Amino acid sequence: MKKIIIDGGQEISGTIKISGAKNSIVALIPASILTSGKCVIKNVPDISDVRILLEIMRELGSEITFENETIIIDNGNVKNKEITEEFASKLRASYYFMGSLIGKFHKVDIACPGGCVIGSRPIDIHLDSFKKMGIEIDEQQSKFVMTVDELKGNHFYLNFPSVGATINIMIASTLAKGQTIIENAAKEPEIANVASFLNSMGAKIFGAGTSKIIIDGVDELYDGFVEVIPDRIEAGTYLIIGSLLGNNLTIENIIESHIESMLYKLKEAGIKYESKGNSITITAAKNLKPINIKTTVYPGFPTDLGQPMSTLLTQCEGECLFEETIYENRLRHIPHLNSMGANIKVFDNQALILGKTPLHGKKVKATDLRAGASMLVAGLIADGRTEIYNIEHLLRGYERIVDKLSQVGVQIKLVEDEENI
Ligand code: EPU
Repeated sequence: MKKIIIDGGQEISGTIKISGAKNSIVALIPASILTSGKCVIKNVPDISDVRILLEIMRELGSEITFENETIIIDNGNVKNKEITEEFASKLRASYYFMGSLIGKFHKVDIACPGGCVIGSRPIDIHLDSFKKMGIEIDEQQSKFVMTVDELKGNHFYLNFPSVGATINIMIASTLAKGQTIIENAAKEPEIANVASFLNSMGAKIFGAGTSKIIIDGVDELYDGFVEVIPDRIEAGTYLIIGSLLGNNLTIENIIESHIESMLYKLKEAGIKYESKGNSITITAAKNLKPINIKTTVYPGFPTDLGQPMSTLLTQCEGECLFEETIYENRLRHIPHLNSMGANIKVFDNQALILGKTPLHGKKVKATDLRAGASMLVAGLIADGRTEIYNIEHLLRGYERIVDKLSQVGVQIKLVEDEENI
C-alpha cells in the first residue's frame, strides 16, 4: 500500500508541464488493435492505467516499446485471446477491447470492466449499439462473449452522449460494412483525438468532436500515428492548486479551449491568470468569491474536476452550491473534507459548501481517483501534515504527481505503508 504525506501551506511557484490525456491514451492503445501495421503514439503519460493496457496488449501478442513518452506498437502477431478478469477488472477502459477485437476478429471474450466506484456505471449503451451492428452478445456471469459474421454500420441516436460508447462505436464501425452515423455523440476532445488516430490509419471518420459523427467503413487499415492531447483534467487540477497557493505558477502544455468552463469559473471566483501560447500563469487570490458548480458533459464543467474543485469551494467567502450530474456516487470524498475542517452538507448529489473554513492536516483516504485529487488539494492548503491513504487511485491518473509538485516547492512524499484507514 502507498500513501502520500504532505506538509501543507507553502506557496508554489515555478513551472508544471501537463502530460498526455489519460482518457485519450486509454482508448488509443486498444484502438490500435484494428490495424496489423505499426502505430506510433507520442506524448504518452506514464501512468498505471497505461502500464496495465500495455500488459493486456502484450498478452494478445503485440510487440511494444515505451520510451521517451512514445509508444511504438507492432500488432503484426496479435491473436484473439480471452481477456480475463485479472486484466479487464483493473480499469474501466478495458471495454475498448470490445470495439477493437470485434472490429478486427469478429469475436471477443472479455471479462467485465473495472474502474472507480463512483456510480453503477452500466455499459448498456455500448451493448445495445453493438447488437444493432449485428453482434450477438452472450452476457455470462462476469464476462461477455460477442460474435458476429458480418459487422454492419447502423444509424444510432444515443440516449446519453456517453464518452465510452461513442468511442467504442467509432472503433467497432471503422472496419464495418457501410456507413455508421452516431447522433447525440459525446463531444469531449478525447473523441476527436481517437478519430484522428483511426483516420491516420486510413479510417473515414467525420465530425468527431461534434454531436454527429459519420463513419464510412473501410476494408483495411495501415500504419497509424497520433500525438495524445494534453490532459485537460490534470491541467484543471493544477489550475485549482495555483488558484489557492500559486505565486506566478506556470502551467505548460494546455489547450485553453478544452478547459474554458473551468477558466470561466475561476474568473468568476476572482482569480486572475495570464495566458501566453499554450501556457497559463496563475497566482492565488486573497479573497475568493462564492460560486456555484454543476458538472455536465463537454463543453460544460467536467465531472472529473468536480471533486478537486469542491476543495477550492471550501475557501470561497460564502455559500457555494456544488452539483454532480454525471455519476450518482461522486461525493464520497466530502466526509474526508469535513474531517479536515470543511463545512459541507450533502443532499443527494448536491453539496452546500459554507466557507471560508481553514483546513487542518489529517489522515484521509482517496476513495477514488478524483477524490484523491480533492484530498491532495486539501492537504496542500491545510495547516500541518496530511496523510492520504489508498493513493494508488490517484497514481492511475496523474503522471509523476509527486515529482511535479516537489519541483514547484511542495513538501510531499510517496511512501509505502502497511497501515490502512
Ligand atoms: N452510462 C450509462 N450507460 C452506458 C454508458 C454510460 O448509463 O452504456 C452513464 C454512466 O453510468 C455515467 C454517464 O453515463 O453515469 C457517463 O458515462 P460515460 O460513458 O460518458 O463515461 P465513461 O466512458 O465510463 C469516461 C472517463 C471518465 C469520465 C467520463 C465522463 C474513461 C476511461 N473514463 O468514462 O473518467 O468521467 O468519461 O467524461 O475515459 C476519470 O478520469 O476520473 C473518469 C471517471
